[in-house]
Amino acid sequence: MSEVMDEERRRRYLAAMEIPLWRSREAPPPTPAESPPEAMEASPAVEATSERSSEAAVDTLDWAGLEARVAACTACPELVANRSRTVFGVGDRQARLMLVGEAPGADEDRLGEPFVGRAGKLLDAMLRAIGLSRGQVFIANILKCRPPGNRDPRPEEAAHCLPFLERQIQLLAPRLLLSLGRISAQHLLRTQAPVGRLRGQVHRVEIAGLALPLVVTYHPAYLLRSPAQKAKSWDDLRKVWELLREE
Ligand code: URA
Repeated sequence: MSEVMDEERRRRYLAAMEIPLWRSREAPPPTPAESPPEAMEASPAVEATSERSSEAAVDTLDWAGLEARVAACTACPELVANRSRTVFGVGDRQARLMLVGEAPGADEDRLGEPFVGRAGKLLDAMLRAIGLSRGQVFIANILKCRPPGNRDPRPEEAAHCLPFLERQIQLLAPRLLLSLGRISAQHLLRTQAPVGRLRGQVHRVEIAGLALPLVVTYHPAYLLRSPAQKAKSWDDLRKVWELLREE
């Protein structure tokens, strides 16, 4: 693809993210991929309480077994009473990039897929900006069930659900994790620091025996409310693109 086409494509993507073009001239992003890049401190050893003693441990399950275990989970009574379905995660199970959000919202609860509402549309545009489609990454959440009224996950809910996410990470063994928003970043990095302090650097996390780089960016729903922060998210995505390109 020619330089001119690359520039055009970059402008289209920035427009899709509604990032003003003046910003991109000030700090030119790397050329979008000619051919797009393919594609916890260990969390507490909490076993999902849905696990009966006769059942295999979560960290021994394959993808199908894990998906079935999540669908059958009854560990959090309030979430179980309010959910339409669990939202396991979606994408390429050999992806190099794994995105971790917070928890399903109303649209996700209805459709069973993460990030399908307005925030999801923005997330798709953000991925396109670095030459990736939703099918080339894997997207999951800290919680697999929708918290009523989209409240924050409770610590005990996250503790019940994290073994599922850890097993997903272990099975996927991605090259890079991207935390979308505060809840994801704080759980994966085991910190209370705000996103503004956590973004702009490449963290290293140990999850399920894997040492993985992790980049933090703003949650797309926050970017919809605070569009002025989109330029910072674009910087974060450029970093993701660079890290994937280095592989
Ligand atoms: N917000 C999230 O964090 N995850 C989703 O799946 C949808 C919205």
